[in-house]
Amino acid sequence: MVNLEINPVTPLIGAEIKNIDLRNTLHKEEIAKIRGAFLKHSVLFFRDQDLNIDQQKAFGKYFGDLHIHPARDRNGIDGHPEILYINAGPDTSRVNGDDWHSDVSCDEKPPMGSILRIFEVPSSGGDTLFASMYAAYDALSSSMKKFLEPLTAIHDGGPNYIDRAKRAGIYKPEKVFPSNSHPVIRTHPETNKKSIYVNKIFTQSINGIPKDESKAILEFLFQHIAKPTFQCRFKWEKDSIAFWDNRCALHHAMWDYYPEVRRGYRVTIAGDKPL
Ligand code: SIN
Repeated sequence: MVNLEINPVTPLIGAEIKNIDLRNTLHKEEIAKIRGAFLKHSVLFFRDQDLNIDQQKAFGKYFGDLHIHPARDRNGIDGHPEILYINAGPDTSRVNGDDWHSDVSCDEKPPMGSILRIFEVPSSGGDTLFASMYAAYDALSSSMKKFLEPLTAIHDGGPNYIDRAKRAGIYKPEKVFPSNSHPVIRTHPETNKKSIYVNKIFTQSINGIPKDESKAILEFLFQHIAKPTFQCRFKWEKDSIAFWDNRCALHHAMWDYYPEVRRGYRVTIAGDKPL
C-alpha cells in the first residue's frame, strides 16, 4: 500500500513528499508516484532522509543512469565518481551553483535531474531557489515565443569551471570543458511542454545573430527567468533532499552564510540531447 503524501509548495513549482523512507528499496508504485510528482512539480523535497552514499546512488538509479560530472576532480569523492561533493566553509571563495543554472547544461546531453542531500547546514541561510522555466516560457508574449523558438545558444562549461578550479588552486590549462549548442526553447521529452533553456552560469551567446543582439536578448531572458513569481525557495534542514528536473527548472544556491559550513552530496542523473 503506497501512502505517499504530496504537498505542493507553490502552484507552479515544488512539492514536499512525506511518508517515505528513501533508505528502503522502493516499490514500483512508489517510484511511479515519485516520477509522476517530479514531472508535475519539477522539484521534490524530502525531509529526514539519512541516506548513505550507496543508498543515495540507488535512489538516483531508479530514474536513470548516473552522470559523471566534468569537474569531479575539484568536487569528487574517492571511489564514487557519480557523487559531487557540495562543500562550503571558511576557506571557500565561491560555491557551486551560486547563480541561476541548470546543472551541466554545457554537456551534449545535460543531466535530466539532480538529487542533493545536505547533511550539514549553516545556522541560517544556505537556501536553494528553484524557478519553473515552463512558467517563464508561458509568461512570454506570443511574438517573443515565435522569435525565440528557432534559436540555439552556446552553453560553455569553461568560464565557470575554470574560474572555480583557479580559485581552488587546481587549475590545469590542458583540461577542456564541454561546450555545446542547445535550443533556447526546449521541449521536455516526457511532458512535451516547452520551457526556456538558457542560464546565467553556462549560456554564453545566441548563435547566428550579432554579438550585441545576442547580449541584449540573453540579458532580457536572464532577468525574465529570475522573476519571483516563477520560484519557490527551499530551506534545508540536516538530511533534507531536493530532487529537481534540470530540463524545465533552474536553481540558484544562496551563498549568504559565509564563513559557516554547508555540506552535502549530489547524485546527478543522465539526460538526453535537448530538442
Ligand atoms: C548545485 O547543485 O548547483 C548546488 C545546489 C545547492 O548547493 O543548493
